[in-house]
Amino acid sequence: MASELGLIGLAVMGQNLVLNLAGRGFRVAVYNRTLETGRRFLKERTPGLPIVLGQTLEDFVRLLAKPRTVLLMVKAGAAVDEMIARLTPLLSAGDLILDCGNSYFSDTERRAKELAARNLQFMGVGVSGGEEGALLGPSIMPGGPAEAYARVRRIFEAIAARTEDGPCVTLVGPRGAGHYVKMVHNGLEYGDMQLIAESYQILEQAGGLPAPALAQAFAEFNRGELASYLIEITARIFQECDPDTGKPMLEVILDRAGQKGTGRWTSENALELGEPTPTITAAVEARNLSAKKELRVQAEEVIKTSRLKSPWAIPPENLVPAVGDALFAARLALYAQGMALLQAASKEYGYDLRLPDLARIWKGGCIIRSALLDVIRAAFTEQPDLPNLLLHPNVVSALAQRYASWVSVCQTAIAFAIPCPALLSALAYFEGLRRGRLPANLIQAQRDLFGAHTFERVDREGVFHHSWDKKGN
Ligand code: 6PG
Repeated sequence: MASELGLIGLAVMGQNLVLNLAGRGFRVAVYNRTLETGRRFLKERTPGLPIVLGQTLEDFVRLLAKPRTVLLMVKAGAAVDEMIARLTPLLSAGDLILDCGNSYFSDTERRAKELAARNLQFMGVGVSGGEEGALLGPSIMPGGPAEAYARVRRIFEAIAARTEDGPCVTLVGPRGAGHYVKMVHNGLEYGDMQLIAESYQILEQAGGLPAPALAQAFAEFNRGELASYLIEITARIFQECDPDTGKPMLEVILDRAGQKGTGRWTSENALELGEPTPTITAAVEARNLSAKKELRVQAEEVIKTSRLKSPWAIPPENLVPAVGDALFAARLALYAQGMALLQAASKEYGYDLRLPDLARIWKGGCIIRSALLDVIRAAFTEQPDLPNLLLHPNVVSALAQRYASWVSVCQTAIAFAIPCPALLSALAYFEGLRRGRLPANLIQAQRDLFGAHTFERVDREGVFHHSWDKKGN
């Protein structure tokens, strides 16, 4: 019997997605560039499941029911274009290709156009949840034509994670919208991880908490308003020991963060759209600085500026709950930035994104799943044209309650010389947003003085230039 769909690319995510699909009863044909990997996968992981292997790409295509549905799980970038170029001559009009990797959204826009010209359907699909999510139920963010989505909806709904609000999948928008939303998801993932990492450093270095106490603090956070996958795994990480040395795992892991670029893309795109996302950018830059390990070690030796004598801005015994409050407040500011970016992109690219739906499909399966998404969903459901999450009355009062802790934790971190770029940038975003008058009047004056760039006035409409005294008289 022909396979209902095919999947190309049997790295871990691809393999797990196939097992998820086949486990739900879908007949899947698979293909991998290296045949041996495909053979081993079939032999070791798929007995009893409706999975068949195409030895060549031609074989693979022959195994598929028409019109064909092909999922690509290959590395984002050139590999996607190469695979599409090999695949398209073998397909027929009306066949559907779904790129399920972390492709850049404008590549997806281009591919959608190129393939439409060849009468092929195309969707860019964000898939989040790591290896485990792919196997047990990811959050799925498809973008593309509604008629293409109608063909795969049943399949996606069957394999996606589920919450009390239904399967974690919806057609998020046209063309590159799915990959755009996944990119912002990853920007938020970077920001969330960095905020958690900074909280860990404050608790460990200012508070002197050893690994078991850190595990306990994060487990406690996870039972309250901070409940989320990232906080939960953080609590688990503190409990893990290295089998070789017996030391806590965190002691033996080098402090140099990797990245594949999706966080950077989010920041780059936000800069392009003129939408401030300082906390996402701070997180990307913190990874960049972490990568300069040798320089940091050298600088630690050279720069010996002494620390403040009495650095505490909060009673030490209140540090853990205060850090919890600060983390929650900063997380709200981070998500306000991400949601604002999605709003801006929705307008700019005509994506027509529905923010409450995005919050809903991020509630299960994905890396940033958290209780906070309920707050976000409720806010944008109640006020669809809310200009910024931080303006919703519930968020205003949640932040007011945590403001003192947030500032004190930041003060403590500064006084202990603990670098907290994400925590501080989130606070600066909040302070900047709620200030009707910023010092940009001076920037305008400077621009007008040195370059006659003109300025607007507070008391009159129009564009003005002042004859500045440039000689300093
Ligand atoms: C997900 C993740 C995933 C991402 C990794 C690593 O949603 O499942 O976002 O897609 O590739 O988290 O990303 P970095 O290597 O850039 O940290």
